Amino acid sequence: MTIEQIRVSSEWLDLREPADAAARSRDLVEHVRRRLPAAGRLVIHDLASGSGSMGRWLAPLLPGRQHWVMHDRDADLLEVAAANPPGPAADGAPVVVETRLSDITQLRPDDLAGAALITASALLDLITDDELAGLVDLCAAVGCPALLTLSVAGRVDLTPADSLDRCLAAAFDAHQRRMTARGHLLGPDAVAAAAERFRRLGADVVVRPSPWRLGAADADLAAEWLAGWLDAACEQRAELAAGVDAYAARRLAQARAGQLAVTVHHADLLVLP
Ligand SMILES: C[S@@+](CC[C@H](N)C(=O)[O-])C[C@H]1O[C@@H](n2cnc3c(N)ncnc32)[C@H](O)[C@@H]1O
Repeated sequence: MTIEQIRVSSEWLDLREPADAAARSRDLVEHVRRRLPAAGRLVIHDLASGSGSMGRWLAPLLPGRQHWVMHDRDADLLEVAAANPPGPAADGAPVVVETRLSDITQLRPDDLAGAALITASALLDLITDDELAGLVDLCAAVGCPALLTLSVAGRVDLTPADSLDRCLAAAFDAHQRRMTARGHLLGPDAVAAAAERFRRLGADVVVRPSPWRLGAADADLAAEWLAGWLDAACEQRAELAAGVDAYAARRLAQARAGQLAVTVHHADLLVLP
């Protein structure tokens, strides 16, 4: 099994859900609201929905009846999504969830027929440029707005600073861009690549920052994020492993003491055809 096929755990998605919700751009939601049809049920397709966090965040911010179709290749995560549907719409209208076991790289425009909006969250940096090209063509063929949130930007700020931060961050970014059986993953290049591809097709693209800002109240998430960050960095550059245990101990002690601030920079992208 190649690393990119490792499953995302629902515990991890659960832990990050409040930080994701706080980070996604509300400004882009206002743009979306202005572009949605004024009447009738909205059909919204969420690509790589995982356990449904995007729907739980966005559905209550949009008015009107909504039918969310959540696509993921992980049946267990879809089960969690179905069991935890979003609350009602902004105006109290009902929101319904349908789950579909899908490989989002294989979707055809017919699968998304009638969509008023396509969404995705924490997806673009996990795919290859070829897969992105397919996704851009899919969105263009469907012809509705697409809100693609929380792609990593390749920048992390840790306070207080540590002499190992920079080389760990560089190794992590290289890991995000690593070669896989499917090709190089886009990692921190995803937003620029997606914006360019959509603009080439004549779409308007609006990009907004959506950083996680983790402080004393987010020690559990910061610790879990840190563990994953270090694992990836050491997998990419094995020689870093020697210093990493002491670094991890320092950072975890700071996190537990509420003395570590972490900003993980992401970007959200709204595509208006
Ligand atoms: C980082 S998680 C994000 C989940 C969710 N969008 C969220 O924000 O909580 C990435 C998700 O992409 C899904 N995924 C990755 N590649 C996929 C593919 N080709 N087809 C369908 N789902 C995919 C994974 O199963 C996982 O649920």
